[in-house]
Amino acid sequence: MKVVIFGTGENGFQAFHILRHRPEYEVVGFLDDDRGKHGATVLGLPVFGDLNAVPDLRRRQGVEGGVVAVGDNHVRGRLLPQLRAAGLEIVSAIHPNVFMDSPARIGEGVIIEMGVAIHPGATVGEGVFLGGGCIVSHHSTVGDYVLIAGGVVFGGHIRVGAYTLLGVGASIQPHVTIGANVVVGVGAAVIADLPDNVVAVGVPAKVIRERRSP
Ligand SMILES: CC(C)(COP(=O)(O)OP(=O)(O)OC[C@H]1O[C@@H](n2cnc3c(N)ncnc32)[C@H](O)[C@@H]1OP(=O)(O)O)[C@@H](O)C(=O)NCCC(=O)NCCS
Repeated sequence: MKVVIFGTGENGFQAFHILRHRPEYEVVGFLDDDRGKHGATVLGLPVFGDLNAVPDLRRRQGVEGGVVAVGDNHVRGRLLPQLRAAGLEIVSAIHPNVFMDSPARIGEGVIIEMGVAIHPGATVGEGVFLGGGCIVSHHSTVGDYVLIAGGVVFGGHIRVGAYTLLGVGASIQPHVTIGANVVVGVGAAVIADLPDNVVAVGVPAKVIRERRSP
């Protein structure tokens, strides 16, 4: 299937390299909201434009699939349904060296880097980004459009609300619930529940400020 990647930054780079391991997908180019990049070449491939380029790509180039590879959770949450509405099949980029045990459930349009482990009984929502080496333990639920950075470790029975970002190397104690639109800082140890719309850092993690709900 011919696919385009939305996002020419680091996440697009990651998605491109993951999909090189998946012969069922042929990446033919990129899309980006940044008009300055339209017409440029990224990783040897053209940047066709933004969402408006999709009808032409479908008609003339036979593009059928789209990957949303944008780091901002809220932007990803906006783009993914738009790409779907534009008629593209939403494609996931899942590295072949991911350890995933059934019956884990994974939503559409995820990006999962190498070395991630998803344990049985875990649920991962739509448009989730799982960074290299993170561990999503048994009976945990990761909401839609969450980003879990590299090296994050879960105990079992964790719940993470939609649009939340868990920073590099954070550790989450079993049975903790983290709200929606939360940011957990690099290296934090979350040992108690966190409400929606906060930023928390440190060991143990403490709320340092509120975060506006978009
Ligand atoms: C938590 C975070 C969002 C805070 O960023 P910020 O709002 O710009 O905050 P600041 O850098 O102004 O720091 C505010 C205070 O929190 C402290 N702080 C920030 N991050 C911290 C962390 N990870 N652990 C401990 N303290 C931290 C700062 O030292 C500062 O303390 P002070 O007020 O006593 O000086 C950011 O530091 C972070 O960890 N982001 C996650 C990055 C990441 O992993 N992204 C994923 C990439 S794939």
